[in-house]
Amino acid sequence: MDVFEAIRTRRSIRKYKDKAVPWDNVVTIMQAGKYAPSAGNLQNWKFIYVKTDDKRKAIAKACLGQEWMETAPVFIVVIAEPEKAERYYGTRGARLYTTQGCAAAIQNMLLTAHSLGLATCWIGAFDEDEIWRILNLPEEKSVQAVITIGYADETPEPPPKYRIEHMVFGEKWWGRVESPKSHLGWWSLYNQKMVYEGKKLAKKTGKKIKEHIKKKFGKK
Ligand SMILES: Cc1cc2nc3c(=O)[nH]c(=O)nc-3n(C[C@H](O)[C@H](O)[C@H](O)COP(=O)(O)O)c2cc1C
Repeated sequence: MDVFEAIRTRRSIRKYKDKAVPWDNVVTIMQAGKYAPSAGNLQNWKFIYVKTDDKRKAIAKACLGQEWMETAPVFIVVIAEPEKAERYYGTRGARLYTTQGCAAAIQNMLLTAHSLGLATCWIGAFDEDEIWRILNLPEEKSVQAVITIGYADETPEPPPKYRIEHMVFGEKWWGRVESPKSHLGWWSLYNQKMVYEGKKLAKKTGKKIKEHIKKKFGKK
């Protein structure tokens, strides 16, 4: 699965099969988090995996009672270390850079899990104090997200996404997009890929037709 395909087909899953996730997959997912960009390469995050029933139950409760989470056999809780970024970049480091770095790590993990045939959901609704207590976190750390991981037991419809034309401006806010606007979609990687696949198929079919004609009528 190429990266764009993984990005396009990833879904948030809220119902999981009663099936264990191989440990090496969990490690690969955390490795993917590790390779995310971070301001000054500080890597000011920690990933806490949680597999035990009691703890998953307690965390699901702390996530404002999202009980469906318990069906996922593994959670990864992403913890930020804002104090490390503050040392170098002040308030901007502690807030913006730290949150963005963790978000990049989270998305890396979601996409890697998806590429391994696993399903995930990014959980941001939680009582931070409660998770902080459940995981014995030091005072200065902050909880960024809980990621549920498991095998999907549902196939949700893809949620509606705006067309690209609705989120792109040219050069400035409200800046006109090169006309015609409706062609913007044709420049996307996805469509480039579709055109490429179409050409490949046409070439293959052409070859088959030629072979068929040759076989049927032969060369005189
Ligand atoms: C910052 C953030 C917080 C989220 N928190 C929750 C959450 O608490 N519970 C939940 O079920 N989904 C949560 N989601 C998942 C979104 O609901 C989901 O990404 C969105 O509906 C689009 O669906 P998709 O992920 O399948 O594209 C969160 C996503 C993000 C990025």
